[in-house]
Amino acid sequence: MKDRIRRAKEIQEEINFKEIFSSPARLFGYVYFYFLIIIVALGLLFINKLPELTKGSIVQTIQDTLSQSSDIPFVMSMNVPPVDVFKMSNPTAELIEKGKNLYRTNCASCHGDEGKGDGPAGIVMNPKPRNLTEVKDWIYGRKISDLYKTLYEGIIKSGMPSYSHILPEELFAMIHYVRSLAPNPPMDTKEDLESLNINYKLSEGIKTAGQIPTAKATKLVIGEKQSEMIKYEKLLIRLKKEKQHYKILQFINAEEKFVVFVINFVNSQALNESNFVNIIKANPVMYGISPELLKSNNETISAFYNYIVNLLNEEIRADVKL
Ligand code: HEC
Repeated sequence: MKDRIRRAKEIQEEINFKEIFSSPARLFGYVYFYFLIIIVALGLLFINKLPELTKGSIVQTIQDTLSQSSDIPFVMSMNVPPVDVFKMSNPTAELIEKGKNLYRTNCASCHGDEGKGDGPAGIVMNPKPRNLTEVKDWIYGRKISDLYKTLYEGIIKSGMPSYSHILPEELFAMIHYVRSLAPNPPMDTKEDLESLNINYKLSEGIKTAGQIPTAKATKLVIGEKQSEMIKYEKLLIRLKKEKQHYKILQFINAEEKFVVFVINFVNSQALNESNFVNIIKANPVMYGISPELLKSNNETISAFYNYIVNLLNEEIRADVKL
């Protein structure tokens, strides 16, 4: 016990805690070594990870600009169902309500929540987005057929966008909502509605084309070309070799053209001898075949045709599905 007290006293004298606490900055003297180790360790760790950290962030930026912002989006092809213009010209409460929601997402940014032409995106526009609650000064007018034209085609030069990508039924819904914003919307005649139907093929319904991002499409095309190129190279090598041994191949006077012809022929599904003769008759030189072949006897022509069929079976059919 006594020993311990003495030892504690000794330590106290050694470190002199009293002095440390009276000026705490001195404490640093005792621990700075450990700080040093920690800082150096962190520094090493950071340097070690540096390439990974920076590499990651650079790749990220490149991917962003290449594959996302600069490419067109994927759009499914759309089946536009046929609509009955006469039915659609009836402003049901349901249609107006639907139109109001569609208006909020598509139009309010320019024309304002209430249709007064005071949306935030319209402030800097000249001319200003139409105040849809006013009756005066419309360019196309407020009839259903007029509004359909405005929405479908837009008024491009003044900044009113085209909404041709929106389904006809939804366009009608918005039209009825717009017409409900100002008093006494003018009525369409029967002829107006009939020509609306004809102009926009509304009772027919249409299928719109899909769209695939350019990068993806390019990859698909390159992929296809690559396998075509391999086929092409293989056939060309084989042909050049065999030409020395088979007399019949003397009728080929441009191997490159001939190989392209053979590759296309396999895809054409028109695979029989008389078709083959008819095809090359039109322009043998175009297919790399000497016109002399057509002057020779039937057996020779058959032999030549059979050679092609063999070529197809051995070199192409193996990996191409007819
Ligand atoms: C980018 C802003 C913008 C958006 C979004 C927009 N418009 Fe417009 N719109 C305009 C401008 C600008 C005009 C005025 C054109 C002019 O006076 O030449 C206009 C004009 C119109 C007119 C008047 C046509 C006429 O006969 O004078 C109608 C109706 C209309 N817009 C409806 C709509 C509807 C419905 C939507 C949503 C589906 C919509 N707009 C979305 C900017 C916009």
